[in-house]
Parts: sequence; structure tokens; C-alpha cells
Amino acid sequence: MIAHANAVGAEGIYIMTERLDLSLREERAKIRAALGGSGLWIVAVAGDEIVGSADIARGRHRKSHHVGELGIALRKDHRGAGLGRAMMESMIAWARSAGIRKLSLSVFSSNRPARGLYRSLGFVREGRLRGHVILRRKPDDVLLMSRWL
Ligand SMILES: CC(C)(COP(=O)(O)OP(=O)(O)OC[C@H]1O[C@@H](n2cnc3c(N)ncnc32)[C@H](O)[C@@H]1OP(=O)(O)O)[C@@H](O)C(=O)NCCC(=O)NCCS
Repeated sequence: MIAHANAVGAEGIYIMTERLDLSLREERAKIRAALGGSGLWIVAVAGDEIVGSADIARGRHRKSHHVGELGIALRKDHRGAGLGRAMMESMIAWARSAGIRKLSLSVFSSNRPARGLYRSLGFVREGRLRGHVILRRKPDDVLLMSRWL
């Protein structure tokens, strides 16, 4: 999981984290805590390598327990072949069965593939944080998108 996150992070333009400096013990604790909060974590495996991971973190407070915050990242050589859509669809089905009412996510404005995927699955834009990140020395916006289930 750490190697996977770092491989996508090293590309520098898709996800906020660029490098996870966690020990195995810390990474295990992080995953356990996420699942303990009734979230979901799924991985796609090719051979003995993780090539995709996606998660839903559920709101920790009673007021926000109906909301799931979603994230997804695939390794470069496994993109564009339908895996992202398949993982998103299984997460949406799980979220519905777990009683989550609203899925929300953030995406960099320049990330066209991700925006296309989310839009095609019914996510709509709820907000825009202007110049909220610097990607390859250029400011970019963070879009907040969501979908009611
Ligand atoms: C974004 C991501 C999860 C999409 O998964 P994927 O497996 O590559 O996408 P799929 O092959 O399932 O395609 C699903 C849809 O995404 C969009 N899409 C995918 N690749 C695209 C591209 N190169 N350009 C434009 N749209 C694209 C299309 O809308 C596509 O719909 P279609 O199947 O009708 O063509 C994946 O590319 C990825 O992990 N990228 C790097 C990390 C990242 O950006 N994570 C999200 C951060 S918010």
C-alpha cells in the first residue's frame, strides 16, 4: 500500500500526498482505524502487486455520518482500461448498502480523466477552491464534487 501510494504520489499531479513516510506498523494502524470508523478500503491486485486502491472514509461525527469521503488511485500502467470505473461502481454499491447518503470527493481541476469518470457516474461540482494547490509550479483549483445516493 505504501509503495503504491508513493508511486502515484511521485507523479506529483494527481493526489495531495507525494510521499508516505510511514512504517508498516503505522500504515497498518492507519488502515485499521479507517475501517474501524466503518469505512471501506479496496485494492486491485495484478500478480502480487497492488495496482489500484480506493477508499471511503465515513464522517466520524453523528452529524456527518451519512457522508462518505472517497479517494481512488491507480498505477499508471493500469489506467484507461475500465478499472477505475469498476472500482468506483463497487464503492458506490457498498456505500449504498452501508447507509451512506452522500459521497463527496475533491479533485484537481487539471485532472481531466478523473473529472470525466466522476461526472459520468453522476457526481456534480459543489465548490471550487481557487489556486488551492501548486502543481508543477502552476496554481490549480481544487474542485469539490459529490453525489447523493
Ligand atoms: C482517475 C482514475 C481513477 C480513472 O480510472 P481509469 O481506470 O483510468 O478510468 P476508466 O478506464 O475506468 O475510464 C472511466 C472514465 O474516466 C474518463 N477517462 C479515463 N481516462 C481518460 C483520459 N485519458 N482522458 C479523459 N477522460 C478519461 C472517461 O470519462 C472514462 O469513461 P469511458 O469509460 O466512458 O471512456 C485513474 O486514471 C487514476 O488513478 N489516475 C491517477 C490518480 C488519480 O487521478 N486519482 C484521482 C484523484 S481525485
